[in-house]
Amino acid sequence: MNILAFESSCDETSAAVVSCDGGRFTVKSNIIASQVETHRLYGGVVPEIASRAHIEAISSITYEALEVAGITMDEVDAIAVTANPGLIGALLVGVNFAKALAVANNKPLIPVDHIKGHIATCYLDEDGNVPTPPFIALAVSGGHTGIYLVEDYNEVKLIGSTRDDAIGESFDKIGRIIGIPYPAGRGFDALSKEGFDKAVGECDDYLAKYKKSAAYKSGDFTLPSPAVKDDTLDFSFSGLKTAAINLLHRYEQLGAELPRAEFAARYTFEAVEAVAKKMALAIDKYGVKEIALCGGVAANSHLRHRLKTLAKEKKITLYTPPVSLCGDNGAMIGAQAYYEYLRGNLADSSLNASASDSIGTID
Ligand code: KG4
Ligand code: ZN
Repeated sequence: MNILAFESSCDETSAAVVSCDGGRFTVKSNIIASQVETHRLYGGVVPEIASRAHIEAISSITYEALEVAGITMDEVDAIAVTANPGLIGALLVGVNFAKALAVANNKPLIPVDHIKGHIATCYLDEDGNVPTPPFIALAVSGGHTGIYLVEDYNEVKLIGSTRDDAIGESFDKIGRIIGIPYPAGRGFDALSKEGFDKAVGECDDYLAKYKKSAAYKSGDFTLPSPAVKDDTLDFSFSGLKTAAINLLHRYEQLGAELPRAEFAARYTFEAVEAVAKKMALAIDKYGVKEIALCGGVAANSHLRHRLKTLAKEKKITLYTPPVSLCGDNGAMIGAQAYYEYLRGNLADSSLNASASDSIGTID
């Protein structure tokens, strides 16, 4: 079946055509209109501007998605859309557009949760290297840091999360202070690599080597771990962020030049190690044999590498989408929509968007 899927929860407008044949997906098109350049001026996403930009883009990217996929509206079997969570005004653009399209063309309408969509990115591998529930997914993005137990394609439970800031948000905020343009995640990744290179030389396992390095032990950039110190699977990134801001202020007050790369490396080390620590706990607690990494921050090279080594240590399989599918996109919504469709989770034209998370915690 062909699913035309929309994503507009934050600052990317996306329309994609995903086809599914017996559980094997083909991404026929995945058009993404990014608003990053617009929001960069303000150092972050401005919700009102985001909504307007979605309105301007959504119609033309829909034509483009159909054209690239080489199909007409008649050949679309269902229409899917991110209905929550996200910026309400931004979500409403996608939801209303998808609703109108579904009604006008008499197609089923499938509402999709954005986080389930990120997780579903892992099902898109065309060679079929995909996780099979039950598995644990780490979803890390600008707005979320959660560990999820995927009991079934439609049954997802939150088993650990940040109690305050999301990991991507923390990279963006600290990155901004040290002069990396929004969104800072990618620049932070590259700058950290420079810092690791300086501390341990170029190698294929920066984090393991860094932990034993003189740079790490020197205490120059001591920062707290964002892994909450208990047996939960929770995080607190605001503690790490505040400590980092205080450290940066001290440099400013002393008029000293900040060794940016070394600082970024230490920040990345603490963030990634904390995530790996809680993922290790989650794997032991739930005894799963497969884990998945998804969301915008899943593009982080250090995090990808660290989870690879963790999976090796635990003798389990890690699934990670290609970097091109880590950020927000319509194809991931199409993949999850397929499973929602099989379950009969459809909506009618009374569908509304919601800013809130809908994934519940485990009993
Ligand atoms: O999933 P996403 O596109 O949007 C949300 O749902 O939030 O994630 C965007 C986040 C931003 O915070 C961005 O800085 C971060 O993903 N990001 C990265 C990298 N690439 C993007 N963070 C760390 N390392 C990266 N390479
Ligand atoms: Zn996202």
